[in-house]
Amino acid sequence: MYNSKITGLGFYVPDNIVTNSDLEKVMDTNDEWIQERTGIKERHWIPKGSDETTATMGAEAAKIAIERAGLTNNDIDFIVFATLSPDYYFPGCGVQIQEMLDMKTIGAIDIRNQCSGFIYALSTADQFIKTGMYKNILVIGSEYHSNGLDKTTRGRGVSVIFGDGAGACILSRTEDDKKGILSSHLHSEGKYAEELVVISPSIKHWVPEIIDSNGKDISYFPYMNGTFVFKNAIVRFSEVIKEALTANELAVTDIDLFIPHQANLRISQFVQHKLKLRDDQIYNNIMNYGNTTAASIIIALTEAWEMGKIKDDDIVLLAAFGSGFTWGSVIIRW
Ligand code: UT7
Repeated sequence: MYNSKITGLGFYVPDNIVTNSDLEKVMDTNDEWIQERTGIKERHWIPKGSDETTATMGAEAAKIAIERAGLTNNDIDFIVFATLSPDYYFPGCGVQIQEMLDMKTIGAIDIRNQCSGFIYALSTADQFIKTGMYKNILVIGSEYHSNGLDKTTRGRGVSVIFGDGAGACILSRTEDDKKGILSSHLHSEGKYAEELVVISPSIKHWVPEIIDSNGKDISYFPYMNGTFVFKNAIVRFSEVIKEALTANELAVTDIDLFIPHQANLRISQFVQHKLKLRDDQIYNNIMNYGNTTAASIIIALTEAWEMGKIKDDDIVLLAAFGSGFTWGSVIIRW
């Protein structure tokens, strides 16, 4: 059995910044409500008419991660791409990366686990490395939310939260069994699938039914039972973190940096206080990016690393909760 470690990190967000006051101009909302309930000040949204997509943003983040790993595109053995907002219904974005980065005809899979997407993607890649099947895997989380949001007062409970962006890392084989990914823990609870969901277009509710409804059917916009999701998030975050710490015989005080999925600053703060983590043990950046779903952890991880917040031998904890419901955690010794 081999171990896997992160050897390169990168992220990319579109240039266009949308502030809370920008949103006040298109819907009945305000900066105070958004900041108080979510912590978000601004997010990046791909502007209308741009050629950027989930795949192109993922490719930009990937180029940075590959270069920082000291590799070339041809050194990558496999692609794992996490997103809930793929460019096509099918095929997935992974194959687009193979083409965009002019890679060999390596395998590529897409992971559809929404806010937990990056945790699931990292864990999947880790298994391929552990078995010895691959040496260098490109793991991407990318989301293009803005084109699919209801940007009217009707959709304000959801649309103010989400942002566009991508992050990527290279997971590489290491012979050092003390370093790298120490564990991953993954969970799901499908009975709550419709508490945070985009219903259509789906094969059981296809495009003609939406058109025939003359605008009444808005099931193509995301629906979120916010309070219910919030309550479940704080419980599951805490559970899965404790599960990971116990499995590795670690204490909360051993955590050098905790990077929670950036769902809501209030959720991160609740979990921080419950675990009694100091401010320097947690990194949040939702203020500037909003919730970028499968991209949020890898964007935050990259940013924290760029700021020098992660040092050799540090214990880094990643955890996420979201639609599905799905949740999970990964512990890394850097
Ligand atoms: O990443 C995936 C997982 N997602 C999450 O973990 C999100 C979890 N949930 C949340 O973060 C919070 O539930 C939200 C931020 C989505 C909402 O916060 P809340 O404190 O639960 O607010 P609420 O939905 O209970 O709404 C409170 C009020 C309502 O008005 P009334 O009925 O009290 O008159 C809403 O209509 O706030 C109103 N409201 C808004 N007002 C101004 C909802 N959205 C907005 C808005 N601006 N954008």
